[in-house]
Amino acid sequence: MIAIGCDHGGYALKQEVMKHLAERGLEYKDFGTYSEDSCDYPVYGKAVAHAVADGDCDRGILICGTGIGISITANKVPGIRAALCGDCFSAEATRLHNDANILAMGARVVGAGLALKIVDTFLDTPFSGDERHVRRINMIEG
Ligand code: RB5
Repeated sequence: MIAIGCDHGGYALKQEVMKHLAERGLEYKDFGTYSEDSCDYPVYGKAVAHAVADGDCDRGILICGTGIGISITANKVPGIRAALCGDCFSAEATRLHNDANILAMGARVVGAGLALKIVDTFLDTPFSGDERHVRRINMIEG
């Protein structure tokens, strides 16, 4: 189960991402926001981060205007490694190296076409499991 959330700046792109997930047959839970009315990104960043940290969802996707505020918020929650990605190389690398459990994107930064490729790369790339990466991940919260 994928947790997904956004603020007003990410609402339109989130609709595209959810349609794409459904077309791929992937289950998701939408934590809001549910319109383009102005709202506060930490509300949605925290909701998705806690769903992932608590094990209710396997991965998360967060979208705001830049992806910055919502990723900063998510990374405050213990156990969360949220990666702000604007390209597929970073999305692949953060799965291989950081075992990132949340993908953050900026809807005012990336277009929908690129965003969907970033989503696919993030979801389809496994963690490498290499000892050096495990060690470094453990050092983040240790
Ligand atoms: C909202 O205008 C904007 O500040 C927000 O979407 C995000 O970019 C914050 O980091």
